[in-house]
Amino acid sequence: MVKIAPSILSADFSRMGEAIKLCEKSGADLIHCDVMDGSFVEPITFGGQMVKNIRPLTKLPLDVHLMIEHPKTQIKFFAEAGADIITVHYEACAKISPDYLRETLELIKSYGIKCGAVVNPDVPVENIFPVFPLCDMVLIMSVFPGYGGQKFIESALEKIQSARAYAQTIGKPDMDIEVDGGINMLTAPRAAAAGANVLVAGSALFGAPDFAEAVTKMRG
Ligand code: DX5
Ligand code: ZN
Repeated sequence: MVKIAPSILSADFSRMGEAIKLCEKSGADLIHCDVMDGSFVEPITFGGQMVKNIRPLTKLPLDVHLMIEHPKTQIKFFAEAGADIITVHYEACAKISPDYLRETLELIKSYGIKCGAVVNPDVPVENIFPVFPLCDMVLIMSVFPGYGGQKFIESALEKIQSARAYAQTIGKPDMDIEVDGGINMLTAPRAAAAGANVLVAGSALFGAPDFAEAVTKMRG
């Protein structure tokens, strides 16, 4: 069964508490928190304080997607704020050093929380194969990160298939494979058929007339 992770990027930031309650009430499986630093991606969203403030409002796992430079320096803040899983971008790590991604994933795990690696649409998923054994989840971006409401990039489907196949070959057939960007009622079943089991959706859920119905329909 696929898990639905609403992205609070598409929520009204002045009413975040209500958005979290709505996610929980609607049967969402995780809450996807998009952290942007104005450098790795153009916009700035929020930091650890937001995660800390929403933590007591829900029992759902908080899935923190770090779209930031130098992620290693920020892990402490998100771990202590109550993140359940933190994902970091391959691209932000690779430009620092070849070992930086592995070191960051190990740092996340040292806090007793789950970790994951993310690849952008123009980066081969094979680049993160070496860290698959360490990862609880991998995230395939199906848009270039920075903004909600963009169109799904089709080449993500092949990357999801490759990620699922490789996870099987290393003995982790049930590894979480998440897809993020442009997920709606048409692209969700295609991403799931390709092997993704965690679907992030922002505009398609928060823009739907009935949020709960949209969560159920997307999962189905
Ligand atoms: C994009 C973010 C996504 C975004 C998805 O940079 O990482 O999580 O919120 O939004 P939709 O579902 O509207 O494409
Ligand atoms: Zn995201």
